[in-house]
Amino acid sequence: EPETIAEMLDRLSEIVPDYPSAGISFKDLTPVFADGQGLRRIVDEVIEPFRGQFDVIAGLEARGFVLAAAGAYATGTGMITVRKAGKLPREVFRDEYTLEYGTGTLEIHRDDVAPGTRVLILDDVLATGGTVGSAVRLLELAGAEVIGVGVVLELDGLGGREKLDGHTVHSLQLV
Ligand code: PRP
Repeated sequence: EPETIAEMLDRLSEIVPDYPSAGISFKDLTPVFADGQGLRRIVDEVIEPFRGQFDVIAGLEARGFVLAAAGAYATGTGMITVRKAGKLPREVFRDEYTLEYGTGTLEIHRDDVAPGTRVLILDDVLATGGTVGSAVRLLELAGAEVIGVGVVLELDGLGGREKLDGHTVHSLQLV
């Protein structure tokens, strides 16, 4: 039988105990990114339900860039870089969001997104949903329509999906 996406992710990713803090098991996807078939498969499958529905893909710094750039190239669309504060040189929209400890700030260039653009958001992991939620606000502030959110891993019990209520969320594995 062909390997399922969950089997592939379990085979290639590395579980790191007590990272980033004691008691947390971190599922590291860099070995999946480093594998030719693995990368192609996660990119294809994360985009799959949204095919034909978006004009551009937004990637969230930093691991979301890998997925978004590959997905944009594969589908012939462009890519929006949603960046941590202070990295973009021109006029930005800025949004502050809550992290587990403290706050983070995301930015997009104001003129990277034309009003009415249909955007697919991609990131590696959905945890509390703070990061994706912030990206949704930024893109909507720019007048874009967020048509969906694709992630490789969805962490169970952290409320991310609920926080994004009203947006279609497609994850490849619930962990
Ligand atoms: C991680 C991950 C997601 C986010 C998920 O990024 O890549 O972007 O956290 O968490 P949330 O749903 O609770 O917001 P991180 O901030 O570690 O940035 P990095 O990718 O630049 O390392």
